[in-house]
Amino acid sequence: MQNLQEIQQKAHRDIAASADLEAVAAVRLAYLGRKGLLAMTQQDLGSLSPEERKTAGSAFNEVKSAIERAIEHRERELQDAKWESVRETERIDTTQPYFPTHAAGHLHPNTLVQRDLEEVAKHMGFMVIDGPELDTDYYTFESLNIPKTHPARDSQDTFYIEGHPDWCMRSHVSNMQVRLMQQFGAPLRAAYPGRVFRNEATDASHEHTFYQFEALVVDKGLTIGHLVGVIKSLLRGLFRKDIEVRLRPGYFPFVEPGFEMDMSCLLCMGRGCAVCKKSGWVELLGCGLVHPHVLKEAGLDPRVWSGIAFGMGLTRLVMMRYGIEDIRLLMRGDENFLKQF
Ligand code: DAH
Repeated sequence: MQNLQEIQQKAHRDIAASADLEAVAAVRLAYLGRKGLLAMTQQDLGSLSPEERKTAGSAFNEVKSAIERAIEHRERELQDAKWESVRETERIDTTQPYFPTHAAGHLHPNTLVQRDLEEVAKHMGFMVIDGPELDTDYYTFESLNIPKTHPARDSQDTFYIEGHPDWCMRSHVSNMQVRLMQQFGAPLRAAYPGRVFRNEATDASHEHTFYQFEALVVDKGLTIGHLVGVIKSLLRGLFRKDIEVRLRPGYFPFVEPGFEMDMSCLLCMGRGCAVCKKSGWVELLGCGLVHPHVLKEAGLDPRVWSGIAFGMGLTRLVMMRYGIEDIRLLMRGDENFLKQF
């Protein structure tokens, strides 16, 4: 009996001292296990007289169940404490607003390049202005000295509006030229980026919808030297280094003389690659001295005023800057592609 009491007291001390569930499990084993203290004591009961065994037996059972209850109680305590700490550390504040990691939004590569160009142009004294994507045949073609027979007017190139043959989706941002001169007069420095549309089959280098960036200067005594100088300054501002360019004669009804300009391919540094078709040069823009007919159409006297204009493929610059080899990636809305920028 003495022994049993001692065991019980010691068990309660050990149980109370158990700091975690593993410790309680060890205590359980030490007292209640098959080779535990109580099992050993139980063996001693066999050596008692039947009378003694009866009292000792019930005392033994009481002690045993008291220890069992104490262990279970301690286990529950520790388990509760454990859940409590999980509840604290893994608490979710449902009143917090949800900020998905990548959904804060970012700018499309087209917009990045467009904004850079706009910044440079503004520093060069240009106003930057937006224009209509749906426009009249007059501003898109007629006012630009583009005759009715010009291939650009072909419905295969231009999206016309059903039932409204005088309206189309602009195929170039040059639809702004006469409008700007009419509105602001001369002298004038304007840059106008925007989306244009061509009724074309698409492939790696053709899209039906893309972006252009055009600039128009009207002043006295403008020359091709001014034209090339302005373009090179704009490119230097965009790429932060001098870009090599070359002029080729080109025909656009709204300029005389007209040129096409190439820039050295930045993907291969002029060595030749798939994007520049191994030539080392990529077509960049059309440009020239504004045709006298166009100045006249805008109400300006071509004997007094001269103009320089150039319209470049903004999308092409985007491809150059980021090394994008397929133009269709830019319009696809593919998040995996876009999140790189
Ligand atoms: N609008 C022409 C095109 O989309 C490009 C162009 C050529 C623009 C000559 C100009 C220019 O301003 O002077 O192909």
